[in-house]
Amino acid sequence: MSTDTTRPYLAPRPQEYGQIPNPIFRKEWVGDKKLPGPNPLLSDLLTATFMVNTPKFLLKMQEKYGSNCSFFLSRRLFIGLFSPAAVYEVTVAQQHKFVKGVGFARMRKVLGEGLLTNEEPIHLAHRRMMQPPFHHGNLDSYVAIMHNLVLEHTNHWRSKSTIELAPEMMALTLEIVSRCLFGLDSHQYTQAIAESMEVAIDRIERTMLPGLERFDNSGIKYFKEFEIASDRLVDIAESIISKRIESNEKRDDDLLGILLQMRGAISTEHIRDEVLTLILSGHETTANVMSWAFSYLSKNPDVRKQLEQEADNADWITQNRTPSYQELEDSSKVASAILQETMRLAPPVWVAPRIATQDCEIDGVNIPAGAHVLVSQYVTHRNGKYFPNPNQWNPARWLDENFEKSLPRGAYFPFGGGSRKCLGEYFAIAEARLILLMVAKNFRLNGDFPKAQPRATYRPKGAVINKVELR
Ligand code: HEM
Repeated sequence: MSTDTTRPYLAPRPQEYGQIPNPIFRKEWVGDKKLPGPNPLLSDLLTATFMVNTPKFLLKMQEKYGSNCSFFLSRRLFIGLFSPAAVYEVTVAQQHKFVKGVGFARMRKVLGEGLLTNEEPIHLAHRRMMQPPFHHGNLDSYVAIMHNLVLEHTNHWRSKSTIELAPEMMALTLEIVSRCLFGLDSHQYTQAIAESMEVAIDRIERTMLPGLERFDNSGIKYFKEFEIASDRLVDIAESIISKRIESNEKRDDDLLGILLQMRGAISTEHIRDEVLTLILSGHETTANVMSWAFSYLSKNPDVRKQLEQEADNADWITQNRTPSYQELEDSSKVASAILQETMRLAPPVWVAPRIATQDCEIDGVNIPAGAHVLVSQYVTHRNGKYFPNPNQWNPARWLDENFEKSLPRGAYFPFGGGSRKCLGEYFAIAEARLILLMVAKNFRLNGDFPKAQPRATYRPKGAVINKVELR
């Protein structure tokens, strides 16, 4: 068993981070009328239901007890904050009173102290450093790379009658993020990353409950597999970095170049964790959105027809050239609505666990320091007050310009908010629009609608086999 504490799986919580208050156990909780919820004595039963299907569990809490509610899991107090006002307070207005919660402690075992999992004061310093490659000005050059990779990747589909949609999307989005941010051809790593991610994503969420960390070094197979997957991903990130260093290629136009220039100011382990974070958070999420979007389209041929028309009318497609980011945006009205609606019902990041570091008041309820707080895209995006017929996938709702403007802050937040908002939002939107339009121009995909496998991300279950028809 590895004993290397510089590796994320075994690394201790950095000392620079603030202290996390102790959780609140049942016996210390006097209750709060504004936070209704199931009887705390049912904690063990609730924990079991939570583990079976967490999104369903959270939705049920909201249905039964209202948008702001409390429940005990692993005998610790959890507060569900699902109203848009509460989401806005937690993710933006009062974000400094929270740190990332349970799931992230598990995620740290894979991603170390990269941007997704790190805390202040490291987070803001790294965020500032890593923002430039994501500025709007760089998007045109990324769109050009993405365009070539989508063409190249989907060309292989021409000779096939079926594809495994989910792995195809994972491989394509991995190629895109690797090439754009690290100047890297990812083919050699695709298989290893996919296999390790499968285990890591599964274990992160399943072990999301607090208290399970005591098994991490137990040697039990289930946890051992988690460690092996984590170490394998670390090896890949380290090999990407050392190849660049050995090549003596000094680049300041991609993220890896920028990170390597910072050597000295930040540790090599931190650089490795940032590489790992961007590779993993930069492909898995987008891939899931694409698999869900094509699955919804296969079930909704009328919408697919509209998308095909949009693709047929896009000048850059008919002229077989790369669009600018702006041109892509202008030619993606239907594609954008499809993405927004897909991320409403199948948000790849579907829950944001936080811990209150101080007592505070959120949307009229008192949150005690130490409480676990859950805001959830999956739950809030299904609020019928803001999204009529909430369970119906209906991209047309986004085509009405006034619809999005009518939503209160915090009602729709697939990319999160505040200083922890997704760094890759526009990157993801650009690649997703390109993939949708370029596939719609050339192919028609048909497959059974997959079941969900909600883990650290909201994944479709299985390979999602689709028949490929040439248009
Ligand atoms: C559709 C695709 C994507 C979705 C829905 C998504 C969603 C999110 C969400 C909700 C968060 C905040 C998590 C939290 O507050 O707990 C986040 C953070 C982040 N995402 Fe994304 N993401 C996507 C694609 C990407 C891509 C393509 C990249 C990079 C190329 C990326 C990089 C990051 C990073 C680095 C963070 C951490 C930011 C910080 O805390 O400063 N994401 N993402």
